[in-house]
Amino acid sequence: MNEEFITRLGLIKDETENIIESYMPDLRGDYGIISEAMNYSFRSGGKRLRPIIIRETYSLFGGRNDAIVSPFAAAIEMIHTYSLIHDDLPAMDNDDLRRGRATNHKVYGEAMAILAGDGLLNYAFETASKAFDACEDISDYRNVSKAMKALSSFPGINGMIGGQVVDLLVTEGKLPGTERVFKEMDLLKTSALIECSFVIGTSLAGASENDIDTMKEVGGLVGLAFQIRDDILDITGDEAKLGKSTGQDAKNGKQNFATMLGISRATDEVKRLSDEARTKLSKITSVRPGYSGFLNDLISYLTDREN
Ligand code: IPE
Ligand code: IPE
Ligand code: MG
Ligand code: MG
Ligand code: MG
Repeated sequence: MNEEFITRLGLIKDETENIIESYMPDLRGDYGIISEAMNYSFRSGGKRLRPIIIRETYSLFGGRNDAIVSPFAAAIEMIHTYSLIHDDLPAMDNDDLRRGRATNHKVYGEAMAILAGDGLLNYAFETASKAFDACEDISDYRNVSKAMKALSSFPGINGMIGGQVVDLLVTEGKLPGTERVFKEMDLLKTSALIECSFVIGTSLAGASENDIDTMKEVGGLVGLAFQIRDDILDITGDEAKLGKSTGQDAKNGKQNFATMLGISRATDEVKRLSDEARTKLSKITSVRPGYSGFLNDLISYLTDREN
């Protein structure tokens, strides 16, 4: 990856991190522990991919109002972080390490970890709704409403949660580990939040339905590639770089594209999906004068990511 991109990504990530962290609650008193547990997982790093996509897509489509986009950038990362806390629970993937630290339930106990996840999910909507306060005209209201609709549906039962259900059923042997099922699983559990990010960024900027659809398709492809790479890294990755334990999928008897295709063919598939995503994206970026191509480079970068 070129050095200029890596430097730029670092700057954008730091900026995004400062913005999204500023929306986190800091409660005191009898139940202040809930915000401590929420912050423990939220403030422990992570690539911040989804809020970066929201902010970058928003500006690609001409969005200029930080007070409208920032609450959504924070909200999507809250929802993503909740999904990780719950994904790591003993009843689910039973993981001990996340973002380089002990998982939430290891520190706060299972009951508090469940509540921290619930807290992040609800606080995401409390946060995103702040964008309404920054609306200046009817089209702002319309765009924020559209983004709210995306924020409430993609992570839900026909999105991320549905995908976690498919994952569970495959692991329990109640659904077959076929190509069709793996694709459905990955599109739901992982692509959904990435599609959601592309749709929110474009919607907030007031893009056309056509452009919103195209960006959603880009998100679907990026999400599939992203999850297959995640499954590969569970087999070949380095725990220190990943910040999570490797070999977990084998330990839990999980099947996925990496176990079905093997590392080499799964790697080819990641590249193929990523190329397809970039081709689709170029239909839009090629007609944006002055666009630096950051999203294009980001997609390439994700293909051979090590964390
Ligand atoms: C992990 O997501 C869960 C998957 C969908 C594979 P990320 O790899 O984006 O995790 P963080 O946010 O960087 O920790
Ligand atoms: C993605 O799948 C999970 C979510 C939707 C939260 P994984 O279970 O493979 O994610 P990791 O590997 O634990 O981050
Ligand atoms: Mg899982
Ligand atoms: Mg997991
Ligand atoms: Mg994984």
